Amino acid sequence: MQPKAHIVDLPVYQPGKPIEEVQKEYGLSEVVKLASNENPYGFSPRVKAAIEEELTKFNLYPDGGAVELTAAVAEYLSVNPDQVIFGCGSDEVIALIARAFLSEGDENIMADATFSVYKSNADIEKATSIEVPLQAGKHDLEAMLAAVTDRTKIVWICNPNNPTGTIVSETELRSFLDRVPSSVMVVLDEAYFEYVTDEEYPDGTKLLSQYPNVVVLRTFSKIYGLAALRIGYGVGQASVIRSINQVREPFNTTRIAQAAAKAALADQEFVQSCRTKNAEGLLFLQKEFDRLGLSHLPANGNFIMVDTKQPAMELFQRMLQKGVIARAGFKLYPTYLRVTVGSPRENEIFIRTFEEALNEQGATV
Ligand SMILES: Cc1ncc(COP(=O)(O)O)c(C=O)c1O
Repeated sequence: MQPKAHIVDLPVYQPGKPIEEVQKEYGLSEVVKLASNENPYGFSPRVKAAIEEELTKFNLYPDGGAVELTAAVAEYLSVNPDQVIFGCGSDEVIALIARAFLSEGDENIMADATFSVYKSNADIEKATSIEVPLQAGKHDLEAMLAAVTDRTKIVWICNPNNPTGTIVSETELRSFLDRVPSSVMVVLDEAYFEYVTDEEYPDGTKLLSQYPNVVVLRTFSKIYGLAALRIGYGVGQASVIRSINQVREPFNTTRIAQAAAKAALADQEFVQSCRTKNAEGLLFLQKEFDRLGLSHLPANGNFIMVDTKQPAMELFQRMLQKGVIARAGFKLYPTYLRVTVGSPRENEIFIRTFEEALNEQGATV
């Protein structure tokens, strides 16, 4: 059997190592995972009750159009329900956008170090990806604009950017949107939107009426703490959302995910408390990196990239053996480690282990 020729060399996505696997492999009783930008504070207590209500309904298909959840999100964002589409994580919305809008010969533009799912889906659709170098870890919107041709269908802007954590400001973004052709879709991936505290940071959903070519992605996986349930969404013009809906599977989000997301959205107090605790945790990590004399990129989400000044993959391995999972292996940032902001206790364990592992460079362990 032969797969399609153009997918043969596609890499398989490498997720952060699961806790259970690391525990077993190294015989550890406790493992701290700060590798996948998950929420260390769990999720709103309202979610459990909402899920319990669904437990007797597993024999019934979910609402394929996620009508109740759509109405709740649309009201929350002050948009029309026909402007919102849900996916099995925002990952799926990215795949659906690529499926609906990219074909062979089309170009799409993204940063050279950004969320890998944009490129992998473009590859699947046989579109050409133009990867524009970040400048000091930040999107270079001028260079991205200069890369636009009459073949460009999509520009992906990850804001804050994963893995670097940097943001583009509202002024920078508007200046870009004012000049990019209106036929080019601009996807603003705001997976970490709720964490950002910088006042210059734009809310993409507020730009939709002025820039009809914008599509905003958000997720319930990060600050809402529902990563396991796989639910995220896209917001854009109704005609664009309709095109994406045309390539969506009929029942792509589950009954449990829809109910949980609706309950989670209603608990903005939980979101606010996570935002505050995350900002405190970020400050703690930044101060510790400063104490260690290590530079770090300006972080705006629930993760931070630190320059370890040594091969980060080896450091990552040494930390793994001590029960701390971070993230390394970023091609353009070989000495950088990305760490998710954990709970205060997890952050302390991380720093202790990190410092130990830093000092073991070159030693046989
Ligand atoms: C920038 C960005 N976008 C999208 C996603 C996908 O999130 P999900 O599919 O869980 O909604 C992630 C997950 O890490 C991410 O970092």
